[in-house]
Amino acid sequence: MDRRNRPIAVFDSGVGGISVLKALVRRLSAERFVYLGDTAHAPYGPRPTAEIRRLTLENLRALDESELFKAAVIACNTATSAAIEELRRTYPDRPVVGIEPALKPAADRHPGRTVLVLATETTLREAKYAALAERMGSRCTVVSLPCPELVEFVERGETDSPALEAVLRVRLAPWLARPVGAVVLGCTHFPFASGALRRVLPPGTELIDGSDGTARQTARLLAEADLLRPESAPGEVVFRSTSPDPAAVAQMERLFRGESETE
Ligand code: DGL
Repeated sequence: MDRRNRPIAVFDSGVGGISVLKALVRRLSAERFVYLGDTAHAPYGPRPTAEIRRLTLENLRALDESELFKAAVIACNTATSAAIEELRRTYPDRPVVGIEPALKPAADRHPGRTVLVLATETTLREAKYAALAERMGSRCTVVSLPCPELVEFVERGETDSPALEAVLRVRLAPWLARPVGAVVLGCTHFPFASGALRRVLPPGTELIDGSDGTARQTARLLAEADLLRPESAPGEVVFRSTSPDPAAVAQMERLFRGESETE
């Protein structure tokens, strides 16, 4: 098969990466995407880094055996921080794109202000984030806030509910009465909770996520490697989950279409 017609793998611990998949499909509508969520092991955030790395590598290997992908997008900040170097060593012949909290665009747009970074414990404790936060710390006040419960709410399709809002109010309590420039959604699950976040945060707080930047970078690398399909080709999106429960894939399709359980 022409290498250009092979699919692009999009991987996350569960449903979060669908927020990135949407940006990818908007920008690369002629491409074939195969989305894999490791629902059987989500959430990744509380797991040790070595285990997240192992799960990520094993899932990508299994996906490559069945799909022979031309490029991989690790649509998970947590898996990126644990495994991106090893993945790039494993697949040196293809683009492997990761995602990191969009702190740089937040610092560009809100110099001198406070920027909250919401992410998983793993993302926030890894060296990759520490280096980014230190670089951006000279341009804005960076506050890193683990928000693990949010992943579980989104995994079960509860993207907007009074219980979710209550958790956010507790997590964000110290920041609700102070001026904050932006909130970086440093976990790909979090854009699905944007409605609840907007209601809880002071009006005017900008929410910033890395999905468009990741899609842009993917498009650039595919073009450089001459791996883009012709623009007239029919695009395709296929969902897979490591959970045998068909509800897992149904939930992915619902989030991709923009619906949630509570709507
Ligand atoms: N969606 C993931 C991220 O971007 C991970 C969530 C989790 O499994 O804890 O970090």
